[in-house]
This record gives sequence, C-alpha cells and structure tokens, in this order.
Amino acid sequence: MTRVLIIGAGSAIAEAVARIYAARGASLFLVGRDRERLAAIAADLRVRGAAGAEVHAMDANAFEQHAAMLDAAWARLGGVDLALIAHGTLSDQKACEGSAALTLAEFSTNGLSPIALATAIAPRLAAGATLAAISSVAGDRGRASNYVYGSAKAAVSAFFSGLRQRLGAGGVNVLTIKPGFVDTPMTQAFAKGPLWAKPDAVARGIVRAIDRRRGVAYLPGFWWAIMQIIRAIPEPVFRRLKL
Ligand SMILES: NC(=O)c1ccc[n+]([C@@H]2O[C@H](COP(=O)([O-])OP(=O)(O)OC[C@H]3O[C@@H](n4cnc5c(N)ncnc54)[C@H](OP(=O)(O)O)[C@@H]3O)[C@@H](O)[C@H]2O)c1
Repeated sequence: MTRVLIIGAGSAIAEAVARIYAARGASLFLVGRDRERLAAIAADLRVRGAAGAEVHAMDANAFEQHAAMLDAAWARLGGVDLALIAHGTLSDQKACEGSAALTLAEFSTNGLSPIALATAIAPRLAAGATLAAISSVAGDRGRASNYVYGSAKAAVSAFFSGLRQRLGAGGVNVLTIKPGFVDTPMTQAFAKGPLWAKPDAVARGIVRAIDRRRGVAYLPGFWWAIMQIIRAIPEPVFRRLKL
C-alpha cells in the first residue's frame, strides 16, 4: 500500500492525483487551508478505494507549523512513500509591481514554503520514496506578465534540481513537475485555447512520472519543446517580446 502525503491537497491537480492513488488503494494524508473542503475530498477518496484518508488544516506559510504537520503525517501513515507539494497562487503581477510586501508574500507561498517543506521532508524519506513538487513552465524564464510567480517557481525548480542530485544517491527520487496551462480554479479567469490541459490529464502524467522515477516532467510533454525554444531566445530579442 502506497502512503501518500499531499500538501495543497485542495488543488484541482492534486485532487486528480489523489483519486488515482485512491483507486490503487493508497492511504492518504491531505494538508491544506480549508478543512471542510479537505474532509469532503477525503470522504470521496475513501469511496474511490483509498485505504485511509486523513486531513490536516495548515497554511503553508505558517512555517512554525510544518514540523508538527509532518510528525502527524508520519504518525498516521507510518512513513511516507510519496510526498507531493502542490499548493500555489497565481500572483497578481500588476499588484505585486506596486508592493514589495505583496511580492514577498507571493514569493513565500510559491517559493519559500515549498522549499521549507522539502527541506523538512527530505531527511524523513527512506530509499524508494519520492518527493515531488508542482513547479511550472513559468519558472523556466521570467516574463514581464508573471515574473513574480515565475521567479518563485524558478527557485523551486533549481532547489529540486540540487535536491535530486543529493537524495538520488540514497534511493529517494526527487521530481519537479512543470505543467503548462491547466484548466483549474487558479486559471478560471483566462480564455482557454489549444495549449490548455485538463487536471485529470496532468495528474495521469504526474503519476506516470512518479512510477517511472523521472526527475523532471513537463506536462503535457509538448511543453518541453516549447520551453526549449523560449529559453533559447537571446536576451536582446527576448526583452523586446511581449509575453
Ligand atoms: N493551473 C495552471 O495552469 C498551473 C500551471 C502550472 C503550475 N501550476 C501549479 O499547480 C499547483 C496546483 O494548482 P492548481 O492549478 O491545481 O490550482 P488550484 O486548484 O487553484 O489549487 C491551488 C491550491 O493551493 C492552495 N494554497 C494556496 N496558498 C496556500 C497556502 N498558503 N497554504 C496552503 N495551501 C495553499 C489553495 O488552497 P485554498 O483552497 O485554501 O486557496 C488551493 O487548494 C500550484 O502549485 C500551481 O502553481 C498550475
């Protein structure tokens, strides 16, 4: 039985991942801010086949609560085979440009808190386990329209790259998940087009990457090619683009 810890478990992508593990008979520990929503998700996961589904209310920015949450998760599950850090907020770029405080708050949610959690989770994992975080293609290159969010995700991607090298020797797989555009509550205000994916499809890609012990997963996979091109654009050209 797989023991799964999900932080940001109310996220549409995370819930779709949890359903796949529930169908496999996994035991889950769900962490998020909205206890009632988590309880409803947990009840649904049990119906779908989960061996167990516990909930724990915590704001990821409450750094002082991380250790107690992890103690509770390890005590409930008896160890963790998969830890998935999924929470995030799509920062209001314009508002951040006028407020250092808001910029740092967004950086905390999307960058510092996943890094703090990964640091605390890493020494608790045994060989064979996976530590995964949902970063973003937005972290591959800063763009005028969302560089606060993108730079926080870039910090997570770089941190996870180093952590992957460090923990790989001990048999712990570290996975950086880089979705493109996904149709979730986070992006409800956006007009959708052909590049958009559904949370279920992204979740299947996440679980495939975990099963195959991959290091980095662009989801859907075509985003790897798109980001190769975006990253290859010389800076003098890139600075004149409106992205
Ligand atoms: N949707 C996309 O296009 C896209 C693309 C690339 C990467 N991603 C990443 O994918 C992940 C999941 O996002 P999603 O698309 O599934 O969006 P979502 O459904 O809006 O989920 C975001 C989740 O993050 C939680 N959250 C936000 N701040 C938190 C905090 N301080 N502490 C604890 N939980 C917090 C939210 O909880 P509340 O319900 O309490 O607000 C919500 O459950 C995020 O890391 C996001 O950056 C999304």
